[in-house]
Amino acid sequence: MQEAWWQKGVVYQIYPKSFHDTTGNGIGDIQGIIQKLDYIQKLGVDVIWLTPVYQSPQHDNGYDISNYYDIEPDYGTMNDFEELLKETHKRDMKLIMDLVINHTSTDHEWFEQASASRENPFRDFYIWKDGPKLPNNWQSKFGGPAWEWDEQTNQYYLHLFDTTQADLNWENKQLRGKLFDMMRFWAEKGIDGFRLDVINLISKNQDFPDDYSGDGRKFYTDGPRIHEYLHEMNQAVFSPYNMMTVGEMSSTTLESCVLYTRPGRQELDMTFQFHHLKVDYANGEKWTKAPFDFIRLKQILSDWQIGMHEGGGWNALFWCNHDQPRVVSRFGDDEKYHMESAKMLAATLHMMKGTPYIYQGEELGMTNPGFQDIRAYRDVESLNAYEKMKQEGKSEAEALAILQEKSRDNARTPMQWSKEKHAGFTSGEPWIKLADNYQTINAENAVQDPNSIFSFYQELVTLRKKYAIITYGDYQQLLAEDEHIFAYTRNWNGETLLVVSNFYPETTTAKITRKDNCEAEVLIANYNDPVQLSERIRLRPYESVVYYLK
Ligand code: GLC
Repeated sequence: MQEAWWQKGVVYQIYPKSFHDTTGNGIGDIQGIIQKLDYIQKLGVDVIWLTPVYQSPQHDNGYDISNYYDIEPDYGTMNDFEELLKETHKRDMKLIMDLVINHTSTDHEWFEQASASRENPFRDFYIWKDGPKLPNNWQSKFGGPAWEWDEQTNQYYLHLFDTTQADLNWENKQLRGKLFDMMRFWAEKGIDGFRLDVINLISKNQDFPDDYSGDGRKFYTDGPRIHEYLHEMNQAVFSPYNMMTVGEMSSTTLESCVLYTRPGRQELDMTFQFHHLKVDYANGEKWTKAPFDFIRLKQILSDWQIGMHEGGGWNALFWCNHDQPRVVSRFGDDEKYHMESAKMLAATLHMMKGTPYIYQGEELGMTNPGFQDIRAYRDVESLNAYEKMKQEGKSEAEALAILQEKSRDNARTPMQWSKEKHAGFTSGEPWIKLADNYQTINAENAVQDPNSIFSFYQELVTLRKKYAIITYGDYQQLLAEDEHIFAYTRNWNGETLLVVSNFYPETTTAKITRKDNCEAEVLIANYNDPVQLSERIRLRPYESVVYYLK
């Protein structure tokens, strides 16, 4: 069995802008992260993933990079970064950086050159097409056409995201070389790996065809040369520097992710996929309000568990990140059963096979803030969607109600450190409003309380280190059709883990068929008096129990 350290690891994701501000400008910074490293270490995690801190005009909070070789001044300096890396390593944790190489900011020097004239040597670093008609009907993921007209040179350039995020032309070998040089620059600094932003979009179908049945994604998702590019990247940078890599895969397939992560292929270590987070999209459309489809949620996660196990790939496990609403508000109950449901969701995910990711504040059970006013929103995608919904005839109240559930800003409110002003996040005016509940939901309370959500996450991380079955066991889904219970087993080396979770506020009974009658030990549970394993387990609201059988 091939073994890698990150298979036993847990990752903590930091969104620096909202983490901790030490300068009083209302924006989190690198020194703020350094001050909180002991807190992160206390959780027991192995790796920190830092979302982009490179220079950027911040139209998409750093996912629009204008200089890959320096730090955004709002966040600090290169010295601050080096100090962060050193302090992280000192605490026996690793640091991985975000790598945004599907596109650059239009403020990047390459784009400034490329858009200066059609003859410029950098022209071919981006994707240009003649007008005046739009080159095809592809849509930007942030709304509107994926093409923007460049006045100066009279051609369109492609942008799958914001108009200020121009897609790079990966067909150009010189560009690839420059990107690999840049990656080596960070590797040489001693970082431990990369999280690769929308990496499965870098290879586009070179005919750029119209999409008669969709928005164009079928022509650039998991595209024609993607495996070749990833392998090339791996050989140029990841393998020589022994890096950990996780790819963000937009609208991907299980088959593709097996190929991306099967070790012998030397592409990536693991992948994020998003299908399980689309179960509350009505008709596949994000900007809608719909109850989540629980049966589908279970099926998707189970299919990926089984498919990656059998295919020899590796999953990154997550409920939350900086683009997703808070999970306790989404699939749990952020009021009456806040504590129970946050713990239940954590246990259900952390007992699966893969590498779990904890997004800042998730370990506190941070919730969606429920902003009542459009002026509280900051995210470019949300603001575009709001305008579009209104144009399509929704009232302001209806559009706002949808943002309250789906906006990426739900994840981006400041980290709740204490009950002090602005939750101890800043002494100034925060760049985005806080959730009102920081008086009760905050780190200061949580770290002292052995019963807190934080302590529960700590325990989950410890269990993963202690029980190899969590890393290696297979996965079998139980009660697939049950409308309340998420249940599965993991088997390995004669041991079994049984995970049983009630996803609803009603009491329910799980009928578990057991082949054996050996003693079951409760490994972890979110009620203090967990029910013993029998053929009928009565589960209270959002109750979750993990049994260990040997
Ligand atoms: C990824 C990032 C997201 C960003 C987008 C474009 O999905 O997670 O925040 O807006 O890529 O870079």
